[in-house]
Amino acid sequence: MIEPLPNFSASFYADLERINDRPEPFEIYTAKDLWTDEHTSQQMLAFHLNGELDVSSRRIEFIEVSVGWLADRFKLSSGSRVIDFGCGPGLYASRLANLGAAVTGVDFSPRSISYARKQAEQDGLEIDYHEANYLDFEPDGKFDLATLIMCDFCALSPEQRSAMLRMIDRHLSPEGRVVLDVHSLSAFEQKEESASYRKNLLDGFWSPYQYFGFLNTFKYDPEKVILDKYTIIEPARTRQIYNWLQYFSVEMLERELESTGFEIEEVLGDVAGRPFTPQQSEFAVVLKSHYCG
Ligand SMILES: C[S@@+](CC[C@H](N)C(=O)[O-])C[C@H]1O[C@@H](n2cnc3c(N)ncnc32)[C@H](O)[C@@H]1O
Repeated sequence: MIEPLPNFSASFYADLERINDRPEPFEIYTAKDLWTDEHTSQQMLAFHLNGELDVSSRRIEFIEVSVGWLADRFKLSSGSRVIDFGCGPGLYASRLANLGAAVTGVDFSPRSISYARKQAEQDGLEIDYHEANYLDFEPDGKFDLATLIMCDFCALSPEQRSAMLRMIDRHLSPEGRVVLDVHSLSAFEQKEESASYRKNLLDGFWSPYQYFGFLNTFKYDPEKVILDKYTIIEPARTRQIYNWLQYFSVEMLERELESTGFEIEEVLGDVAGRPFTPQQSEFAVVLKSHYCG
């Protein structure tokens, strides 16, 4: 005979409400928990270094083409100064430094920065790596090129994006440019709301221990924002990680830039310089400051 279920308590119901609760767009910022947690940062580093995957970093062939294009497009030479925000383990920074550019890399993942520093030492490259949150980082001096690669711009709230661009603007040389990529509205249209859960969701990505992982995906139509909200419940702790993504059309990005002192100089298909088509899931832009040459 099947035993009747015990009456789940009111607190369990309240927990489920919290799991399914829909926050305001960009209400909670938890990017640091995702990238710097002892366990998940290990998984992230493995993804960065897997040259066959487009996870955490793009595949290695793409990175090679991208660095070649950046060098060509921005005439990078031994005198050039480049800053890479969210540099991860330095896949772009090391290649740019190899071309002779003076490179600064900023990332808040201790694991990635430590890997990047060791790699630079082994390769005999002098790269100025900083373990820091780029949202409250003030670099030294002026740069000819600032990069923010793999749609990191989209993970920031409108206020964070604007503050970040204002900070970059203070540190661009007169001819300096910014290169960043973003998710497109075509990709947004493919997204749907959903709620699911699974034991050890993503095959142990979230913890070395047993856990239940809930994934609630929210779609904010007016703002063109998607939230993947993860609730990870282990026997000893519960965490919630909010992965926000802003999706853009070229016009939306143009409008947003109006208040920042930047304008779009060129729209591209990606940060490797391929041509732009609106159907793509991502696109890239070269930005110039209103005060630039
Ligand atoms: C998607 S990965 C891209 C890494 C690198 N740009 C690449 O394409 O290989 C995002 C990186 O940005 C870093 N990051 C995210 N938010 C950050 C923040 N607020 N401050 C500093 N680093 C950040 C993460 O640690 C991670 O290394």
